[in-house]
Amino acid sequence: MSTMFSLLFFSLTSTALLHSTPSPSPNFDPPALYLTWQGDPTTTMTIQWISRLNEKDDRIKFQRIGQDQWQEASAIHFQLPEKFPYLLHRIEIIGLLPGNAYRFQIGSNGPEYKFRTLPATLAKPLSFVEGGDVFHDSVADIKATNIQAAKQSPSFALLGGDLAYTAKKDSAIAEDGERWLTWLTVWKQTMVTPDGFLIPMITAIGNHDTRGRYFQTPDNARFYYALFRTPGNQGYRTFDAGDYLAITILDSGHTHPIDGKQTAWLEEALKTRNSFLHQFALYHVPAYPSVREQNTKMSPAIREHWVPLFDKYNLHAAFEHHDHAYKRTVLLKGGKEDPSGVLYIGDGGWGIEEGRNPRTTKAWYLAKIAPARHFILVTLDEDKKVFEAIDSKGVLIDSYTLRIPEMAKTTTKEKTNELIEK
Ligand SMILES: [Fe+2]
Repeated sequence: MSTMFSLLFFSLTSTALLHSTPSPSPNFDPPALYLTWQGDPTTTMTIQWISRLNEKDDRIKFQRIGQDQWQEASAIHFQLPEKFPYLLHRIEIIGLLPGNAYRFQIGSNGPEYKFRTLPATLAKPLSFVEGGDVFHDSVADIKATNIQAAKQSPSFALLGGDLAYTAKKDSAIAEDGERWLTWLTVWKQTMVTPDGFLIPMITAIGNHDTRGRYFQTPDNARFYYALFRTPGNQGYRTFDAGDYLAITILDSGHTHPIDGKQTAWLEEALKTRNSFLHQFALYHVPAYPSVREQNTKMSPAIREHWVPLFDKYNLHAAFEHHDHAYKRTVLLKGGKEDPSGVLYIGDGGWGIEEGRNPRTTKAWYLAKIAPARHFILVTLDEDKKVFEAIDSKGVLIDSYTLRIPEMAKTTTKEKTNELIEK
């Protein structure tokens, strides 16, 4: 399929431009604009923006940087849940070229924005930022971390739940749409690389994204599922790039049970991604908490149902959150320290005003903890992955490297990660 031809294809959630839409408002610039991926991150991009109810124009134009010709397209839009008086506009552009830069514009005279697709192969190091427990306190707190994270020029951000803290324990109480909008507005303003590229986000759901918090259904996380579409509102899904990156995204018991269908799905997902160079899981509640005790809430169920699969299929690292601190475990397999085991790293502190210390004693499996507002910069290379925890002032808290043995680069059947600590 030629590039020109393929660029004219859009997802079923969008409508290709037919030059029939009204002229966009001049200089329209939405308060919130964010990128995510529903499909292949090497060839697609999902652009979403929020507007007032009367700003219904869905038209965008985009072009590959270096080309002259603009492509035009039209998003869909719908009102956000719980009668929040704003529209969400969404378009998934497909047929893009891997590892390429694009510019786009909403309306005819609005500002230009830029994005990048992920490369098809890991020919050079690729980095992303990771964190969770985001808009817990003030705008200043999230801004501080966003600014440091964006400085790293990450290719994308992984967010492990509790994004805007809008959902209450009482499932009858509606979410605060303004708080979602505030968070996404700050995201637009600050999650931009030094060379001007918007940073796409990939998310998992947390208890504070769900009315009632645990044992609920997607209907009690209406904002989350509206803002981060998952086909069928399944919540758990895979995010793969080429044959070098596989991320399994899970719902730690908020809108889908941990066991049963989700666990069966997880086994299939891990089994079929066993040969990827870098394999991660992303979810909210930790199997190995750093602050809460080990038998709190969902942690035992995650250790019972998911951890044996992580061990069996040689997952490399699991990103965990929810505890509002930085943690890195020793490598764990079968519930014991094992050099061929899985790294558990997190523990959710992107926007917290103050980090937490362990409630009782420091658990035996913790190699490093810090009560810090932070994100984790992950850099992937052909022979290793490097995890750097950085606080909201830009100070390095921790650095850790998992090296991929020569044998595993080709087979990856027997992962024997070699630990190197700086
Ligand atoms: Fe949480």
